[in-house]
Amino acid sequence: MGKMTITKLSRYFIIHLLVLLVLTTYVVRSLDANTLCINEEREALLKIKKDLKDPANYLSLWDGMNCCNWAGIECDNQTGHVLNLDFHFAPNIGGEINPSISDLKYLKHLDLSYSNFQGIPIPKVFGSLNMLRYLDISYANFSGIVPTHLGNLSNLQYLYISTSFYSLWVQDVTWLSTLSSLQFLSMEYVNITNTSHELFRAVNMMPSLLELSLISCNLRTLPPLFPFENITSLLVFDLSQNPFNSSIPSWLFNMSNLTHLGLSSSSLRGPFPLLRRGNLCNLQNMDLSNNDLTGDITQMLDTLSYCSNQGMKKLYLSSNYLTGKLPHSVGEFNNLVDLDLSSNSFSGPIPATIGNLSNLEYLNFEGNMMNGEIPGSIGQLTQLTTLNLFRNNWEGSMTNIHLHNLTNLAVFSISSKQNSFAFKVTQDWTQYIKNLFYVKISDCQVGPAFPNWLRNQKFLNTLILQNAGISGEIPSWLCMFFQIWELDLSHNKISGHLSKITNVSNYVNLSFNQLKGSIPLWSGVKGLDLSNNLLSGTLPNNTGEEMSHLMFLDLSNNHLSGIIPLSIYRIQNLLYLVLSNNHLTGTIPVFWMGMPHLRIIDLSNNSLSGGIPTSIFSLPSLSILELSNNNLSTNLSLAFQNCTPKLQILSLGNNRFFGSIPKEITKNLPSLAELLLRGNALTGSIPEELYVLHSLHVLDLANNNL
Ligand SMILES: *[C@@H]1O[C@H](CO)[C@@H](O)[C@H](O)[C@H]1NC(C)=O
Ligand SMILES: *[C@@H]1O[C@H](CO)[C@@H](O)[C@H](O)[C@H]1NC(C)=O
Ligand SMILES: *[C@@H]1O[C@H](CO)[C@@H](O)[C@H](O)[C@H]1NC(C)=O
Ligand SMILES: *[C@@H]1O[C@H](CO)[C@@H](O)[C@H](O)[C@H]1NC(C)=O
Ligand SMILES: *[C@@H]1O[C@H](CO)[C@@H](O)[C@H](O)[C@H]1NC(C)=O
Ligand SMILES: *[C@@H]1O[C@H](CO)[C@@H](O)[C@H](O)[C@H]1NC(C)=O
Ligand SMILES: *[C@@H]1O[C@H](CO)[C@@H](O)[C@H](O)[C@H]1NC(C)=O
Ligand SMILES: *[C@@H]1O[C@H](CO)[C@@H](O)[C@H](O)[C@H]1NC(C)=O
Ligand SMILES: *[C@@H]1O[C@H](CO)[C@@H](O)[C@H](O)[C@H]1NC(C)=O
Ligand SMILES: *[C@@H]1O[C@H](CO)[C@@H](O)[C@H](O)[C@H]1NC(C)=O
Ligand SMILES: *[C@@H]1O[C@H](CO)[C@@H](O)[C@H](O)[C@H]1NC(C)=O
Ligand SMILES: *[C@@H]1O[C@H](CO)[C@@H](O)[C@H](O)[C@H]1NC(C)=O
Repeated sequence: MGKMTITKLSRYFIIHLLVLLVLTTYVVRSLDANTLCINEEREALLKIKKDLKDPANYLSLWDGMNCCNWAGIECDNQTGHVLNLDFHFAPNIGGEINPSISDLKYLKHLDLSYSNFQGIPIPKVFGSLNMLRYLDISYANFSGIVPTHLGNLSNLQYLYISTSFYSLWVQDVTWLSTLSSLQFLSMEYVNITNTSHELFRAVNMMPSLLELSLISCNLRTLPPLFPFENITSLLVFDLSQNPFNSSIPSWLFNMSNLTHLGLSSSSLRGPFPLLRRGNLCNLQNMDLSNNDLTGDITQMLDTLSYCSNQGMKKLYLSSNYLTGKLPHSVGEFNNLVDLDLSSNSFSGPIPATIGNLSNLEYLNFEGNMMNGEIPGSIGQLTQLTTLNLFRNNWEGSMTNIHLHNLTNLAVFSISSKQNSFAFKVTQDWTQYIKNLFYVKISDCQVGPAFPNWLRNQKFLNTLILQNAGISGEIPSWLCMFFQIWELDLSHNKISGHLSKITNVSNYVNLSFNQLKGSIPLWSGVKGLDLSNNLLSGTLPNNTGEEMSHLMFLDLSNNHLSGIIPLSIYRIQNLLYLVLSNNHLTGTIPVFWMGMPHLRIIDLSNNSLSGGIPTSIFSLPSLSILELSNNNLSTNLSLAFQNCTPKLQILSLGNNRFFGSIPKEITKNLPSLAELLLRGNALTGSIPEELYVLHSLHVLDLANNNL
């Protein structure tokens, strides 16, 4: 029995010993973790916390003894020194940086990007953090001169200084040249007042540089000779949005390791330098859009296509004066994702090899002089989401084959000249295409029937079928299925009674058709153009209330009758009111207050009578007032007392105005460019003051009694 007790006891003892052992290891370990944070650095962090403004109180997470566990902080596991300070956990912090940050002597990584320091200068104390490898103070709302103290950070590999407000500048770039370990340098939107020559000389002291981004730094020249003999590693070179006003220097094409070349919006002009085989063969992304570049780029594209390991993904050349044809070799860019050649003078057809670009997602040829038939192989581009063929001279037609496999297509636009191009697709086009969002087809033969293939499109947001040869009525399904933001069916032969298409939310243009019936009231739309139809009836009295969101209203060239409703003044954001060429009667509504933006009023060619309400002349933005060919009559000598100074065109011809032309007209209408008063009953003499109106270039006072 005694034996048994002993064994039991010893068993308990062993178990207890084990538990004790596990516990002590745990306690020792966690003690270890606690001692990780160095007290002096913890004190420094608390001082930093005290000086930071942190409205959302994220820094309340900085609590407890072990600062190494605090948000945004990383310590060295062995020594416990703070290595990383990253404020991404506390967006929008601001305030001041306490100088005791210099007590974080081992700090390697400091990230203050996207905080909001309310325009204070970049703290000079950063220059004392000489172990820093990584400093990101981009978009942190610092302003003023970038302190030269940053030049002390000779271990820095990554430096990102930037502001979206042009409020930082560098006056002397010399300090940059001491940052000889830099691999990444970005100073977007920093105004560098030194010359580019001085800047590039400093950059050339960074032999390890991989990425140089100096977007919008106010640099004015590109050096004619290669400035970077020291640098062989550069991969990313982005100098977009600098006012260079020069040609592309040929050394740029010698930087054969570049993967990204950005020089958009940089006032570059003239032709491309000759590209040799092997040049720029590592490029994945080239953006030269928005410049004044000229010349034929066929050779350049052809040469680039010979690169083995073809890696080009994004090629942007839009908005230049480039010419040439797309070579057949364009099909070799088999990794191409975006191709934007819009707004140039490219000619010739699209080569059939385009169908080989199986990764293509974005294709934009808008605004060139390309012609010929569109190859059916375009229908193989299954990844394509945007196909923009607008404003070119296409011939032939587009059929289901062209579109068959474009299963991801969301944005599609095409137009040609003089309907030389026909759109011959049938219902089954959209069998596989379900994501169309934006469709714009102009000056192509689409009709006569309304395209039924749109029926399946549940996500359609914009539908523009202008001058597309469509006749017949608007199908009722168009008014039901989807919520359209913009609908433009102008310049067709659409007939039948106009009924309200309730699902359009922003802009409706049905002008130049043969629509009949009265004007439906569209609440919510901002633009309504129903001009040049056969619409009749009166404008409902509640037009202003129901369509109070309008900015553009054009109902000209219809058969509307009745009065202009008083409620029109309730359309407070109206810019453009055109009701000309109808049979409107009655007087011009008296009340025009509260329409601060109205710029154009055209009520000409109606049968309006009475005077011109003085409140019209007081409209602060009015620049065109066109009231000719009505039965208006009033004494003009009293009409221009309180006028808006912006009025440029005043057309009152062929009415029954009487009285004399007031002398004050020059004082009250200083911007007047056209004054048309012919065919009235004006008397008196022509005031000499009229000759003082410097901008006046059309003056018609014929058929009066002057
Ligand atoms: C420090 O600890 C972390 C987390 O335990 C670990 O991911 C990291 O690799 C360690 N670093 C070193 C230098 O030991
Ligand atoms: C940046 O700081 C300025 C003060 O210099 C302030 O007016 C501005 O609102 C700040 N910007 C943002 C985005 O908060
Ligand atoms: C850093 O550089 C500035 C000027 O470039 C200099 O005045 C300063 O003494 C240097 N050292 C430290 C620790 O900031
Ligand atoms: C950049 O600095 C120069 C010289 O101080 C100044 O003339 C220019 O207006 C500044 N540019 C911008 C965009 O602030
Ligand atoms: C530009 O940098 C040089 C040194 O490279 C300096 O001496 C000069 O003052 C700076 N010039 C301007 C206009 O800031
Ligand atoms: C190349 O860089 C080294 C060190 O960064 C520098 O000493 C040298 O002057 C540079 N050479 C040129 C031509 O700029
Ligand atoms: C391209 O990179 C290689 C390897 O880093 C290097 O040897 C070569 O000099 C670089 N070429 C240029 C033009 O910088
Ligand atoms: C651009 O350079 C041309 C020729 O050197 C010069 O005539 C023109 O005035 C410059 N334009 C600007 C805006 O500096
Ligand atoms: C470009 O490189 C070629 C071959 O290495 C060389 O002959 C030529 O001078 C270089 N051009 C420029 C502008 O640096
Ligand atoms: C590229 O396209 C052309 C014409 O469509 C075709 O004949 C050729 O076989 C294609 N090449 C490859 C590699 O797919
Ligand atoms: C569409 O794609 C399928 C599968 O990739 C292919 O078999 C078919 O030939 C393609 N059709 C057209 C018209 O390109
Ligand atoms: C519209 O207003 C006019 C004048 O105020 C009035 O004569 C007419 O009866 C009104 N019409 C309707 C339908 O209310």
